[in-house]
Amino acid sequence: MSKNVYLPYAATSEKAHIKSMVQYRKMHNKSLESTEQFWSEIASQFHWETPYDINNFYSYNFDVTKGPVQVKWMEGATTNVCYNLLDKNVRNGMGDKVAFYWEGNDPEDYSKITYKKLLEEVCRFSNVLKSKGVVKGDRVAIYMPMVFEIVIAMLSCARIGAVHSIVFAGFSSDSLAERMADCKCKVLVTADSVYRGDKLLNIKSLCDIAMDKAKNFGHEVSTCIVVRHLPRLYRSMNTSNGTNGSNSDIIDLHSDVPILNITLNDNLTFSVPWTDGRDYWWHDEMDDVEPSCYPVWVSAEDPLFMLYTSGSTGKPKGVLHTTGGYLLYAATTFKYVFDYHPGDIYWCTADIGWITGHSYVVYGPLANGATSVIFEGTPFYPDNGRYWSVIEKYKVTQFYTAPTAIRALMKFGEEPVKKHNVDSLKVLGSVGEPINPEAWLWYYQNIGKERCSIADTFWQTETGGHVITPLPGCTPMKPGSASFPFFGVKPILLDESGKEIEGVGEGYLVFNKPWPGIMRTLFGNHERFQSVYFSKFPGYYCTGDGARRDEDGYFWVTGRVDDMLNVSGHLMSTAEVESVLTEHPDVSEAAVVSRPHPIKGECLYCFVTPNHGVTFTPKLSSELVKKVRESIGPFAMPDVIQHAPGLPKTRSGKIMRRVLRKVAVNDREVGDISTLADEHIVEELFKNRPEKS
Ligand code: WT7
Repeated sequence: MSKNVYLPYAATSEKAHIKSMVQYRKMHNKSLESTEQFWSEIASQFHWETPYDINNFYSYNFDVTKGPVQVKWMEGATTNVCYNLLDKNVRNGMGDKVAFYWEGNDPEDYSKITYKKLLEEVCRFSNVLKSKGVVKGDRVAIYMPMVFEIVIAMLSCARIGAVHSIVFAGFSSDSLAERMADCKCKVLVTADSVYRGDKLLNIKSLCDIAMDKAKNFGHEVSTCIVVRHLPRLYRSMNTSNGTNGSNSDIIDLHSDVPILNITLNDNLTFSVPWTDGRDYWWHDEMDDVEPSCYPVWVSAEDPLFMLYTSGSTGKPKGVLHTTGGYLLYAATTFKYVFDYHPGDIYWCTADIGWITGHSYVVYGPLANGATSVIFEGTPFYPDNGRYWSVIEKYKVTQFYTAPTAIRALMKFGEEPVKKHNVDSLKVLGSVGEPINPEAWLWYYQNIGKERCSIADTFWQTETGGHVITPLPGCTPMKPGSASFPFFGVKPILLDESGKEIEGVGEGYLVFNKPWPGIMRTLFGNHERFQSVYFSKFPGYYCTGDGARRDEDGYFWVTGRVDDMLNVSGHLMSTAEVESVLTEHPDVSEAAVVSRPHPIKGECLYCFVTPNHGVTFTPKLSSELVKKVRESIGPFAMPDVIQHAPGLPKTRSGKIMRRVLRKVAVNDREVGDISTLADEHIVEELFKNRPEKS
């Protein structure tokens, strides 16, 4: 074994589900060699209304040349995910167990909800959805802050067989409109507003704009249900004097507070735009329905949810996950990757609007009957110690966050951490991008006190759950390596010609066999599903990432091999940003590349060629930054807009992006540029860099 290996803490190993690499290998082999047996033992812990057939447990085709690509697990069996997450746990005596602690943006604002109460609220909201005409298979869009109601809305969809399509509430109205029109949602569930740090965001008015824009795409949302979140916050702001906040046991979800024009204080009135006949207050609707609702039994291969992820051609892809396989996979990865044991308090900081929030705030934890924290705020409010104070407050045992957050918090040194007791921690997770060894070590030493295992989890929206990850208490860790495959997963590295690389080497990261949680299709576009993921190497699912296998067999994910960028763990395509830039009337052409960034991991560096006769000015530059921010979302804000009198193109017209990446970092070793139509442009671009370094 090479140097720089961190062995798991012995006391954790003793109690871990998987105690050694020998045990891991045994189970991993079984998962690949006796796949049916391995997963059916797990499936047997869940309720199936119609049982699965062990002799027809799963089937797949990954080879486009042999027919349509398809993946099926436990087809023919019926179940209900919501029933397995809530009713089953309540029936097993866990009704009074806390499912979620809620920690608001304001530290004075907190609450909790038990499994029993969650089930009751879900039943009510299921009845609300039914009263609005939602039936099995219908799509319901959700655009919400991190409040209990987002979980309630998701699980209500699952309960009645509707398909939720959550759009992260940091996306612009354009992005929301495009996604709602693509999935043709009947209903949109949202909230009046939310505080992010000290900023108040009126998300209902953003939804109104989006619903209008969706009409331009030919889709009309018939119902919009709005959670009244702001008065709740306002009440706590008003009453919190340090002794008495809104910290009641359960937030009263049906309380009566005046609506519409809400006067927050003497000089601020907050109004919620309203369309009668389309818009309904959540609490009004919830008061009128029964607190019980029989679950709809759905087939294991019926859709559970869809979630959009960026595509390299610009148009977002509606990744579709189904019922049975996703449930097994979210549940199993949660249990082993976080080494979850009853009594643990788990906290994943991801927003529910991303796949991490779906699998590891909602589905995985609830499937295990876990208690988790849902956090509405940011790591920096009211101060930079907020994460550590939340860990201390709830005695969090497993903490799951992103490298970009770790790097941002590292900047403030150890002092904010030292003010809090974080000794409850046992497992630290990382997700979203490769974690650089420096951030890994800081996390390991200062947060984990060299006692915690770090799970650097590699996966994608498409994979449904972790696919390459260390297991706490088991895997010797190498900072920056996601290490070994999860059960049921066999990573393969291919060279450019599609030949499998054995042993040490680097290549395309692909898989030739499905695990239960892999996506089944892109919503409404199976052709695109096949062409994006399965056409480059027939027989293999292509992740779009490159990876290296070292001399000890560890996998190191090296990053995207396609035109995708990963900014603070948010995946986006160069094409989508370029198309926004070129929409500006003064812009003729644009090319976007990623540049390494100390906190965000990567940032957007944009080259812009103005129209003939237009001068490139700081005003144009700031208009473009604003335009990208408004069209996609704040997380997509470019760091640099550079004037490009021309772009480096080959004679066939293809932009040579590697040259632009060199310009972005001011590295003059540009390599061979002899195929460029005009080599001089490269020098021009270096001269035009807006920065000195
Ligand atoms: C892409 C998927 C999976 C949930 C969050 C992002 C990158 C993610 C890691 C990791 C190296 C990682 C990959 C992947 N990525 N986790 N631990 N090490 N790279 O989901 O938006 O679908 O993005 O994020 O490039 O393909 P996503």
